[in-house]
Amino acid sequence: MSVESKIKHVAIIMDGNGRWANGRSHPRVWGHVRGSSVVSNIVEEADNVGVESLTLYAFSTENWSRPLPEVTTLFKLLKKFLLRERKKIIKNNIQFRVMGDTTNLPEDTKKLINDLTNETENFKGLKLTFAFGYGGRQEIVDAVNSFTKSNPGKMITEEDMSNHLYCPVLGDVDLLIRTGGDQRISNFLLWQMAYAELYFTNTKWPDFTRKEFRQILQNVCSRERRFGQVCESVSLYETSSMADKNKKILESAMGK
Ligand code: IPE
Ligand code: IPE
Ligand code: MG
Repeated sequence: MSVESKIKHVAIIMDGNGRWANGRSHPRVWGHVRGSSVVSNIVEEADNVGVESLTLYAFSTENWSRPLPEVTTLFKLLKKFLLRERKKIIKNNIQFRVMGDTTNLPEDTKKLINDLTNETENFKGLKLTFAFGYGGRQEIVDAVNSFTKSNPGKMITEEDMSNHLYCPVLGDVDLLIRTGGDQRISNFLLWQMAYAELYFTNTKWPDFTRKEFRQILQNVCSRERRFGQVCESVSLYETSSMADKNKKILESAMGK
């Protein structure tokens, strides 16, 4: 089965920058600088293989508590990325957006984000989303508040929730990749990840390559996603001529 038919939405926790730099006796921010140059390769590769949406965790609500110089460097790198990649994003028909609370970003960076978002909002290519100042719990709280504000007294449904998230158009996550060796989701896309396939790699983000990205997609493509159902071969077996025999086994197991 092709990657694009099975994996529409890929989310990545780009982790391990600080440890990558420290391991080379450099300050943590050096890892962020190197890591930011990997982003464009992976965006290109996701586009090449036909993934519909790529959501990148660039700065979490919890990351606000990092030392100020590190936070400021991350802001600067976002600005540099926007300046450097703007033309390519437009040329490749990529629909760009940032989700999260960007209020504390410098005004010039906010303007770059708004301009690129507006310019690309009707583009039909890859949906590229940066989660910046983003927290999954905050998104859920915001979705509920936004729903109750416009529907006072009404009970919220799963569909309502999905429709009131920051970017309903992205839908559920099919695959979450986390680099850097830790196996947790760190408040990322909590609602959208309910049935995501998870892939954790020890590779630290600055060392993450197009090749590894492709290999992960291939690996995950061969997994069977059952969504709570039984696998295809079992279901065929159950409805075949074995059904009567199975019925007897079940009856005796249930003590009938
Ligand atoms: C991920 O790398 C980038 C951000 C969280 C912004 P880290 O900075 O968390 O790197 P490690 O996990 O400390 O190595
Ligand atoms: C998650 O990485 C956030 C981003 C990659 C932006 P962290 O390094 O902040 O996560 P924890 O603190 O190890 O869970
Ligand atoms: Mg980390």
